[in-house]
Amino acid sequence: MTAESPFKLTYATMFNPPEELHTRFEEALAKVKAGLGKEYGMIIDGKERFADEKFVDHNPANTNEFLGIFQKGTVQDAHDAVAAAKKAFYKWSHTPWQERVALIRKAADLIDQRIFEIGAAVALEVGKNRMEALGDVAETADLFRYACDSMEKNNGFIVEMGRDPLTGFQSTNFSVLRPYGVWLVISPFNFPAALTGGPSAAALVTGNTLIMKPATDTPWTARLLAECLRDAGIPDGVFNYVTGPGSTLGQALIDHPDIAGVTFTGSYDVGMKIYRDFAQSRWVRPTILELGGKNPAIVSRHANLEDAAVGIVRSAFGLQGQKCSACSRVFIEEPVYDELVERLVALTNKLTIGDPTARNVYMGPVINASSYRDYQNFAEELHQSGRVLTGGKILTEGEYAKGYFVTPTLVADLPADHRLWQVEMFVPITTIAKVSNLEEAMTRANEVMYGLTAGFYGSPEEVEWFFDRIEAGVTYANRPQGATTGAWPGFQPFGGWKASGASGKNAGGVYYLPLYMHEQIRTLVK
Ligand code: ALA
Repeated sequence: MTAESPFKLTYATMFNPPEELHTRFEEALAKVKAGLGKEYGMIIDGKERFADEKFVDHNPANTNEFLGIFQKGTVQDAHDAVAAAKKAFYKWSHTPWQERVALIRKAADLIDQRIFEIGAAVALEVGKNRMEALGDVAETADLFRYACDSMEKNNGFIVEMGRDPLTGFQSTNFSVLRPYGVWLVISPFNFPAALTGGPSAAALVTGNTLIMKPATDTPWTARLLAECLRDAGIPDGVFNYVTGPGSTLGQALIDHPDIAGVTFTGSYDVGMKIYRDFAQSRWVRPTILELGGKNPAIVSRHANLEDAAVGIVRSAFGLQGQKCSACSRVFIEEPVYDELVERLVALTNKLTIGDPTARNVYMGPVINASSYRDYQNFAEELHQSGRVLTGGKILTEGEYAKGYFVTPTLVADLPADHRLWQVEMFVPITTIAKVSNLEEAMTRANEVMYGLTAGFYGSPEEVEWFFDRIEAGVTYANRPQGATTGAWPGFQPFGGWKASGASGKNAGGVYYLPLYMHEQIRTLVK
């Protein structure tokens, strides 16, 4: 992170933003709102590409507000994007890595310069509150810089090896990591900036060419990032931005033999389909999957209950529970169960719900009609099978009628074998259980297919036991800033175990960039 990074202004002040940050966001929001409703093309081979069919991007907090018109890209558009990226690959991959780093750094600076504008777009498009929206954009710039730092620290991933005895110690031997080719990034709605930008920067800086395919709910944020790549001077065809349905355009990309690797972030079901489909053609191709979570928090009788309550509520209900890292299960030791539950309910009831762009609103709407329905179905099931402590209903009065607003929901007394202990709901619902001891909590925490993030609150002696036993890629202990959420590049590289991820190496971490390259050994005698 550099001095001009927005990091300090956003992440470090996430829970106590300075006035300047509010006013700059509000100014940008007013400008962005004044320009709503424009039509945006795809970008293929550096040119704007328009399709015959369009789709409208709308604000989930106010479904009558149209944010922009986007292209329903076709199979032909997908093929053209791959052809453009393939054509651009030779030159880009042979561009000195230091030049690629300079261009990606420039793009990071442009993201910084536009952080309030892009943040306003994120807030409107996803329903994120202003701090979470700015955090998403700031994280993107930091992911860009982290990828650049990683190239530099590793000297472009060129390593001199020893001289080997077979050649009488005459050879020079090098290990060189080289890009694969055309890389496809399919990103989700919930972090439309960071989860589009992070893998894109990794693919580009390592010398791959890129196709960005954002979620259909969030084409706008990705378009603004694509503009930052374009304005940084990244050559035509090196990055391509396409929009449209996953079932046609997305599938055509996955099925294309000239796609060398893919990074997909999203649901388990779609990720596994991509994994299988991508394996159908030609040879084994690298597939980086960041999938779901069913993230537990375990609270010991020795915990600081204030920290536990604050951390759990933040992680359960930030972004309306629509983070793969959301805290969706809580296991509390019996002696502190009643007190902690009381605190959790009290804090949850204080959360503000409304227009996410407004000051001091914590929870906006869920993303779309389908999530809204999911929430209602889950809530109905939980009202029948468990004890809803708070929430469990949609909000339909007054301003709430305009969007997909729901209440944050805590549920107790759900039978341990109920299916909703296993299912990632991706809405603001968290289930709570009383346990007799920490062993029981750990067994239950690990008895799901996912292993993304996990949180613990307890004594220093118990913390090491927790880290050692929990099956998760990102773990936190005694953290009021978030029991299971809030990873930042360089500090908490992000990724999961088991059904939560497929690469085994976390994004924004020291082992990430090599996933985007294959190794070539170069032996030269004389
Ligand atoms: N980076 C996001 C978090 O940790 C997913 O919450």
